[in-house]
Formats: sequence, structure tokens, C-alpha cells
Amino acid sequence: MSDSPLSDAHRIPLNELDVITARLYAENGYPHEAWRRLRAEDPVHWCEPEGYRPFWAVTKQADLISVSKNPADFRSAGRFILFPVPPAAADGQSADDLIENPPLRMLVNMDPPEHRDYRKMVSGWFTPRAVTKLEARLEEITTEIFDDLHARGEVECDFVTEIAALQPLRMITEILGIPREQEDFVLRVTNENFGLEDPEFQRGTDGKENPLAFITEAFAYLNEITEDRRRTPREDLSTVLALATLDGEPVPQFELFSLYFLVMVAGHDTTRNAISSGLLAFLDHPGELEKLRADTDGLIATAADEIVRWTTPVNHFSRTATRDLELGGKKIREGDSVALFYASANRDEDVYEDPFAFRIDRSPNPHLGFGIGEHYCLGAHLARMDLRVFWRQFARRVDSIELAGPVQLLAASFVGGPKHLPVRIRVNAG
Ligand code: HEM
Repeated sequence: MSDSPLSDAHRIPLNELDVITARLYAENGYPHEAWRRLRAEDPVHWCEPEGYRPFWAVTKQADLISVSKNPADFRSAGRFILFPVPPAAADGQSADDLIENPPLRMLVNMDPPEHRDYRKMVSGWFTPRAVTKLEARLEEITTEIFDDLHARGEVECDFVTEIAALQPLRMITEILGIPREQEDFVLRVTNENFGLEDPEFQRGTDGKENPLAFITEAFAYLNEITEDRRRTPREDLSTVLALATLDGEPVPQFELFSLYFLVMVAGHDTTRNAISSGLLAFLDHPGELEKLRADTDGLIATAADEIVRWTTPVNHFSRTATRDLELGGKKIREGDSVALFYASANRDEDVYEDPFAFRIDRSPNPHLGFGIGEHYCLGAHLARMDLRVFWRQFARRVDSIELAGPVQLLAASFVGGPKHLPVRIRVNAG
């Protein structure tokens, strides 16, 4: 997401700073001014915002790393994302029950050693070597998107839904072997998952429908596709999942479908946000786009990482302390929630020279946009390749682009980015 406008955060008492309410993210973007103060004045800060259970906000890189690298003291199972209370509870499930018996058991809310066993089932598809083999196909997918835009001449469109969403979505569905006709379904399920707090995407606000119904719908589809691959194996990740075993036994269906679901939704939403928020960064810093156009091959790799640092599409994950301990001089009690704010760590003054400057040639750039430690983003190599291929073609083929209407940001504090971004764009023949 682009930098939020300077707010009143410098005048507000520390205990009144709100870094979690989804609506505020939609209105103001990421709360960079609040985080700047927390990093300077109280880097591990106890928050008791209205409507949420309390949590510690971890805002500096070193503390975030020490928590992420210590899953024995900070478990991922339990409250792994901060939602309001009562959360979007399924069928009357209480808030406590929803945290202890989550509707999905994925890598992100598992701990070692179980976490490693599940991660191994899919990790072979996302190594640098495996991903590099997909590059030629990714170029084709991306070329098709820019060719379609070229055919439309100068056009006004929604950069998020008509451009940014397509490339990462098509790449992950091809990896999974999901046919293109199902693209809209995958997109809807993903939007409902990450947009749980956004009125445009959430269901069940009338209390009649279960807001988590999309999980049941997704599982029904995953059941179909895994049954199909068990009958007729193919060269795709769905087949690998369908035939996976755990200690020689079939993988329990709930955990199998949760893992599948995670790869399906995490595999594109985040990259879409990096592309859309990346565009906002370039529009705010036209000199950086000129630099990229002038030396595309030389700068594309550092540009991709700077876009991830600057936009930080995954804003937070949370851990739960497994014992009483100390962090950043604070006494953390067993059971406390510890929220890791990646977007804050990525502007840490102790780590980055001029952290509030968007510089596509930034090097070194030890950002935590993909996390660190046990849960380091499984798709980081794929995401980097998606971004490199997208922005390389963008730099060469987009002759002009400007905003054509108001930007609408997603109401969410877990992930962040624009949900609608009207632009006027002209693309050349390439
Ligand atoms: C720019 C795009 C992306 C960003 C910013 C991003 C960010 C993240 C972050 C911050 C985490 C948590 C790391 C931690 O807890 O230390 C994560 C985990 C994960 N990401 Fe990504 N991600 C991106 C793209 C992708 C893609 C393309 C995939 C495709 C498979 C993917 C799949 C996953 C999975 C499966 C996990 C869970 C890993 C685990 O718990 O072991 N991500 N990602």
C-alpha cells in the first residue's frame, strides 16, 4: 500500500493509537505515523483497542525476527490473525471456540514438527529451480494481458480487477491445474477470505448467512478436483496434494483441504496487492518509474524487493506466547497475543537508510515482507518472479498511465492494498 497521509498520530496519547481497526485502513491506509511513534517510544506496545482482545504490537525488525525464529516460545496455532470480537463466527461458534478450533488448519496456524511435514508436501513446487521452469509460461500469461490492453487502445479500467489480479491468479491456477473457467470462483473465494471485514466482500452481515460459507464452498470444489486427480493423475500440484501421504497414511481431509486452500488464495492475492500498491508507489514517485524504464534489466530485481518492502501486502500475523517471558524489555505472559507488524518493521529506522524513501535500487534490502523463520513465505520465489515479469513488461509497454478516479482501499488490517484503482492507460504493441 502506498504511504498513508500524515495523520494526527503524533498528538495522540500512545495508548489511544489504533493500529488494527480495519475501517481505518480503508480510510487512511497503513498507520505509518503511529508505527513511527511506537518504534521510537514503545516498540513492544500493549494495545487494548475497542472491539478487540488485547495484544502486544511488535513494531521493530529485531523483535519481529526474534519472535518469528522462536516457534517454541511463540506458537502460530491459536490466534494467528487479529480479528475483532465477536469475530466472523461460524454458526454461532463462540469467539474462544473459533480461535481454538479454527475453520482452517493451514501452515500459517500450525507449529513444528507438524508444520514441517505439511510444508514438505508442497515445497518442491516453489523452490527457485521449480519456479524458474515456469518463467516462460509466466511471460506468455503476462504478454496476453498487455496484448489485450493494447488491443483496447487508450482505455479507462480498474487496474486491480482488470490488470493486477490476472497474472498471479492465472499463474497459481495453472500450477494447481485449475481450469480458467474456475478463475472467477477462485477470485471470489479469495476476496471473501481476505475481505472478511470489508462490506463489499463480506457475507452474512444480516446474520442469516454464515460469513465463512466460502470455506464450505471451496472445500466442495477441492473435493471434486482431488477426487478427479486420484482417478486421473496429471502433472500438477493438485495431483501432488491428492496423492500426498503422512507417515504412510492418507492426509486427513480437513488439513489437506486447508493446505490446498492456503496455496490457492495466498498464491495470488498478496501479489495482486503488491502490483496494485506498487503502481501507486510509482505514480507517487514518477522518477522511480523513469529509472526503471531507463535500465529495466539492471533494476528489475531490486525494484521487485523494494515494492514488497514499501507496500508490504501482508501487514500482520500474530503468535501466542507459550510461557511467561521477556520481549523488548516487556514482560509477556503465557497466552498473550503478539502481533508482528511487518509493514512497520519494513520502515525501521535502525535497519534502513532513509526508510520513508521509495528507491527501486535499494541495496541491501533485508525487508520482512515475506516474513522470516519457520513460516517464511512459501511462494517468495514465485512472487518475486511474478513481480519481475510484470514490471519488466509494464516498463516496456505502458506508454502512459494516470489515475482516473478515487482509489478505494480494502478494509482489512491483515493484508492491505487497493481493491479498486481506476486508471487511464495506453499500452504499446511491445
Ligand atoms: C508479494 C507477494 C507475497 C507476500 C508479500 C507474501 C507474504 C507472506 C508472509 C508475510 C508470510 C508469513 C511469513 C511468516 O510468518 O514468517 C507468508 C506465508 C506464506 N505464503 Fe506468502 N506472500 C506472497 C506471495 C505468495 C505466493 C505467490 C504464494 C504461493 C504459493 C504464497 C504462499 C504462502 C504460504 C503457503 C505461506 C505459509 C508458509 C508457512 O506458514 O510455512 N505467498 N507469505
